[in-house]
Amino acid sequence: MRTRDVWVLHGPNLNLLGRREPKIYGRDTLAKIDARLVALGADLGLRVASFQSNHEGALIDRLQIAAEEADGVVFNPGAFTHTSLALADTLRAVTIPVVEVHLSNLYARDHARQTNLTASAVTGVVMGFGPQSYELALRALHARLAGGRKRGGGK
Ligand code: DQA
Repeated sequence: MRTRDVWVLHGPNLNLLGRREPKIYGRDTLAKIDARLVALGADLGLRVASFQSNHEGALIDRLQIAAEEADGVVFNPGAFTHTSLALADTLRAVTIPVVEVHLSNLYARDHARQTNLTASAVTGVVMGFGPQSYELALRALHARLAGGRKRGGGK
């Protein structure tokens, strides 16, 4: 099977991982998480590239480009998860598989985080496993790509 391209997109404030609310998000830096994903990707036959932005429009641009250039996306929209109809629209427009990921379990947190605008627009969601959520999401995406299906859940 040819090497697939997976883009890992990180939303706002995730560049601060390691020193940002470590009790919730852990102590791993984003660089460390990304390095682990590249290594896991190599084992799985995936070429992994990461991108972080604090800006909604930049994430929308990346998702639109990913639809042309990548085979699948792992995406942590950060707080835009709870607010961005624009990102949800982009995710609906993009037909490659997208796995949404969160370090924390949104449903065990404050009420505002239980509103999720993006989850219904993606292939699936992994949350609550700390930095390991990303690795589980990459494995899930790999399985989806190997299975040849684009989207599940009736999409
Ligand atoms: C997060 C959860 C969001 O509510 C929060 O705004 C983040 C991180 C997570 O990975 O747990 O920035 O997406």
